[in-house]
Parts: sequence; C-alpha cells; structure tokens
Amino acid sequence: MSEPNLDSSRIPTHIGLILDGNGRWAEQRALPRTAGHAAGEASLFATIESARELGVDWLSAFTFSTENWSRSKDEVEFLMFFNEDLLLRRRDELDAQGIRIFFAGDLDDPRIPERNRARMAETSAMTATNDGMCLVFAFNYGGRVEIAEAARRLALLVQQGELNPERIDPSTFAGQLYVPEMPDVDLVIRTSGEMRLSNFLLWQAAYAEFVFPEVLWPDFSREDLVAAIAEYQRRKRRFGTA
Ligand code: IPE
Ligand code: MG
Repeated sequence: MSEPNLDSSRIPTHIGLILDGNGRWAEQRALPRTAGHAAGEASLFATIESARELGVDWLSAFTFSTENWSRSKDEVEFLMFFNEDLLLRRRDELDAQGIRIFFAGDLDDPRIPERNRARMAETSAMTATNDGMCLVFAFNYGGRVEIAEAARRLALLVQQGELNPERIDPSTFAGQLYVPEMPDVDLVIRTSGEMRLSNFLLWQAAYAEFVFPEVLWPDFSREDLVAAIAEYQRRKRRFGTA
C-alpha cells in the first residue's frame, strides 16, 4: 500500500523502535503494568506490517533491555514468558510474509529461560533464508555490552594471531556486533514522550534521526509511523558535512 504523505524514494532503510509507555498505558486504566505489555503486542505487529508495506528493509524493536532485569520479579517473569509465547504464536505469520528474524542481545545470559533461548534459535533458523524485511528483536540487549563484546572478540582474534590490530577499523569492528549484516539506523522512534536513547543501538545510531511521538506504545498506529517517517523526510541529513 503506497502512502500519499511519503516520498517512497526516501523511506528509511533501518528504523529502530523503542517501545515505551506500556506501564503508563496500563496505569491509566488501573490495570497491572503487564497488561500494558500485552496490549503493546498488537501495536508491534501492526507496525511490523506497516513498515513492511512501506518498504522499510530493517526494523529493530527494543523488547527487553539489559537494565530491565531490575524490574519486579513478576514483571520480568511476565516479559520472559511473553517474549517466548509471542514467538510461538506469531512466527509463522512473520515467516509467511518472508520476514527474516534476528535477535540482538546477550542470549547466553543464564537468567534467560532455556525454552526462550530455544524458541529464539528456532525462529532465526526457520526464517534464515527469507528475503523480505529483516526484523530484529533487541532482547536482553544493551549497546555498551554489545560494543564491549565486539572488542573482546577482536582481542581474541588478535591473541590467536588471526587478526593484525592495524586492521581494526569501524567496518571490522561492526563485523563483530550481534547482527553484523545490520545497516546503520536511519530513524529511531521512541514513544511516550521520553527523549533518551537508553543504550539502544549505540554504535548503529551514530547518524540516526530521532523522533519522539507523545503516544504511549500500545496506542501507536500506522498513522504515527507514517508521521514519524514524514518528519524524518523533512530532516536534512548531513553526516558531518556542511
Ligand atoms: C516499555 O514500556 C516496555 C518494554 C519494552 C519493557 P515500559 O514498561 O517502559 O512503560 P512505562 O515507561 O513504565 O510507561
Ligand atoms: Mg519506560
């Protein structure tokens, strides 16, 4: 479906989504915070569908941060179960749309339930040969950990005599990030009016444009996505040039 308000030749290649405001959405309705996460599923999948239709090549969604472990035990347990359950219920429809699914994050963390880890591994394997939109779930993700981990891997290669330190540059470095194929982020959208990056795609967002819609994540709609991309298209990207 083409979109009259957008220039189809300037759709961002990679959009990063910081899904924020689920808790506040629930609190406004006197519901438990977890009801907000459950409600956010519909907006996430509607956004995936819209992004695909609009011709976005990469969509990355921040679904669980390395800092989210400090939430209440109930909320963490809910989010773990929810992420696994969501994959089980939804991956076939994503696969049918040709979507390739990646997970970015520390997936070896022993706090992640084994079943969840298995579900993620199966999901990336089952969609690995798809050639549609690339969808990244940033799960147990933190940008600093990602960068430190890449440095550690490079150090190991040097130690094993497989890499000359002289050859380390931004592109060899990016090759050690969680999803080496991932292009830079063009547009980061964070809902709920919060204006922070919160350790999301630190490396990849070096030249990103940022849009901060006031809407809480469970209320985020196709119109909000189109408005964010329209705002992006009004920006003049300079990449450090005059
Ligand atoms: C984001 O919503 C949900 C996650 C990705 C964990 P929040 O849970 O941060 O909602 P608020 O900020 O408390 O409203
Ligand atoms: Mg929040």
